[in-house]
Amino acid sequence: MKKTIIAAIIAAATAAVACDRNSDPAYKDASRPVDERVADLLGRMTLEEKIMQLNQYTVGDNDNANNIGEAVAAIPATIGSLIYMSDDAVLRNATQKHAMEDSRLGIPILFGYDVIHGYRTIAPIPLAQACSRNPELVTKCASNSAAEAWSSGIDWTFSPMVDIAHDPRWGRVAEGYGEDPYTASVFSAAAVRGYQGDDLSAPGNIASCLKHYIGYGASEAGRDYVYTEISRQSLWDTYLPSFKAGVEAGARSAMSAFNNISGTPATANHYTLTEVMKNRWKLNGFIVSDWDAVKQLVTQGMAADEREAALLAFKAGLDMDMVDNVYCKCLASLVESGDISEREIDESVRRILKLKFDLGLFDHPYTDIIPDSERILQPSARADALALASESMVLLKNEDALLPLKGQRRIALVGPLVDDRLNLLGSWLGRGKAEDAVTVREGMNAEFANADILYSRACDFENDDRGGFADAVRAARASDVVVYCMGERNFWSGENASRSTISLPAVQEELLKALKATGRPVVVVITAGRPLDLTRIEKDADAILYAWQLGVEGGNAIAGALSGKFNPSGKLAITFPYTQGQIPIYYNRRPSSRTGSQGLYQDITSEPLYPYGYGLSYSDFVYGDMTLSAENVSRGGKITASVDVTNDSAVDGMETVQWFISDPACTVTRPVKEMRHFEKRLIKAGTTETFKFEIDPDKDLAFVDDDGQPVLESGEFRVSLYNGDAKVFFLK
Ligand code: NOJ
Repeated sequence: MKKTIIAAIIAAATAAVACDRNSDPAYKDASRPVDERVADLLGRMTLEEKIMQLNQYTVGDNDNANNIGEAVAAIPATIGSLIYMSDDAVLRNATQKHAMEDSRLGIPILFGYDVIHGYRTIAPIPLAQACSRNPELVTKCASNSAAEAWSSGIDWTFSPMVDIAHDPRWGRVAEGYGEDPYTASVFSAAAVRGYQGDDLSAPGNIASCLKHYIGYGASEAGRDYVYTEISRQSLWDTYLPSFKAGVEAGARSAMSAFNNISGTPATANHYTLTEVMKNRWKLNGFIVSDWDAVKQLVTQGMAADEREAALLAFKAGLDMDMVDNVYCKCLASLVESGDISEREIDESVRRILKLKFDLGLFDHPYTDIIPDSERILQPSARADALALASESMVLLKNEDALLPLKGQRRIALVGPLVDDRLNLLGSWLGRGKAEDAVTVREGMNAEFANADILYSRACDFENDDRGGFADAVRAARASDVVVYCMGERNFWSGENASRSTISLPAVQEELLKALKATGRPVVVVITAGRPLDLTRIEKDADAILYAWQLGVEGGNAIAGALSGKFNPSGKLAITFPYTQGQIPIYYNRRPSSRTGSQGLYQDITSEPLYPYGYGLSYSDFVYGDMTLSAENVSRGGKITASVDVTNDSAVDGMETVQWFISDPACTVTRPVKEMRHFEKRLIKAGTTETFKFEIDPDKDLAFVDDDGQPVLESGEFRVSLYNGDAKVFFLK
């Protein structure tokens, strides 16, 4: 396979002209400033060479079922970028050599790939990462992924995904940081810092790409790729902040989204791409389309044909065309007809070339060949993945302090996920392999070496065969406690993985009933890529540990949480509905016109089962009264809220204090509350820690209007805590 591709690459070098090595062009001189090198190179390029920089092809094995229709034919030596679907640095170097030596100017190719929650050392899915409320750990894991990817020949990851989502039926909730713009903004910046480091050209650092720009998470009814109805106010309030935070953290690219935003698809949306991202935020980089998305402007009903699609996307500000070859085919003729000027082409090419220079690709185009044993699955990377996994799990229920397990001699370990590796990893695996994952069974055997563990898989994820129930029930009866590992397969979430129901298949719920009927206490461990409907499960479970999809260290993290080695500290980054009829449900809704009993569901509670921010611990945290440094704050001033939190237990634990602001009367109504700050800290058993939130009116009390202009209105505000009280203060 690889040899065939290399042969194809070399055969494709038909128009190659050897570079004149005696002219010593300025763009090849590493001592010159990047802008000068870019300008020099641009001045030497033909229109055709420029247009090739705006195109992305793929090379390697395409293992993504959603990326269909690709033809890895001949790779031109002048191509701007490749999606690199291989982990072989040798193949990358051969491809790069083709670009460097067989093209007239020797412009290196930018190799991109989806490194979403790990390259080979798979960490928890992003939605779980957000529950950790630990941005430092997220930065570390992103940095480890970057190092593995870089040493495999990747320069650029299509991550972080910072889409806000309110609908757990949408499979891609797994890939983002949840429902809250503030939380997503914190993790957006944390991931960008991790991938890119301080110096993009330093070994181990790669460029990041904020995606999917924008509003993709608003997909109607949780279906993928479909229409999204987003008002300008919601765009600014809900969807844009996490992208802005990523741009401010220095992200070097963004990917436009598949969705149609209220009539104008994201791929051809001048307002979002050019006006906001480039002109106002000054993105230091370029915007790439999503897969085939330029061509899809025809399917979406905006463009009559590919030529018009290219024109609309390019004019809107889309610099690079991912895979569908529409720019390749149409841009030259659009310049010829005068629809697009060569200056406009230059501007997009300049953005792409600048990133290539900043990555150091012109001076070091090839990847050093490092043995796998020194670069992938390194113990320190696994340790970081375990630390993040241990903080990402959310303890949802713990009746009679059943957890951590203490002194049980026999444990029945039951369910389809007990011995499973692949499904612990989640979707978007990068180059991850099932064999790298520690199963729950392996983790439990190591962690509970002194107990008898009776194992029974009992049933599959979804087929109706209940033949294994009897064996599981026998194991349960013979044990002091049951640990039941249920949940989703990894491909039930991710791209093109919408589900009409967020309930687990009946067979899994029925097994829980059978286990409960034994009278033994049942701990339910759930592996999933989205919030599930847990209302029935909650009734039959004595304890619930929501593990999400934790990656290669999943089994160790889960066993450690059950034994008490890890004290759960995750807080939900997304609301769990009571039933799916409540969807969309999210904490920062706007106030209703009627309060009290009006406007509520008549058949069920209108409250979620588990709200955003919820998560238990083995420690008991007692919140004191909140105090405010003043009752009034003036513009330009600051006011500080403080609270003492005491760990009133014998167990050390980490607590995240979550602060919200409410503005009860505002010319543009504000959500009932909006998170503005959180802080996670270890609180030793029996000690008290003081947490503070310094409120800055311009940052924490202002809102933006429907064109993103900041507005700060005087009047009453409220600061509140997830677990404590609220205080009123006034902006004068
Ligand atoms: C389509 C997905 O929507 C996007 O997230 C991904 O980065 C590209 N394909 C490339 O694989």
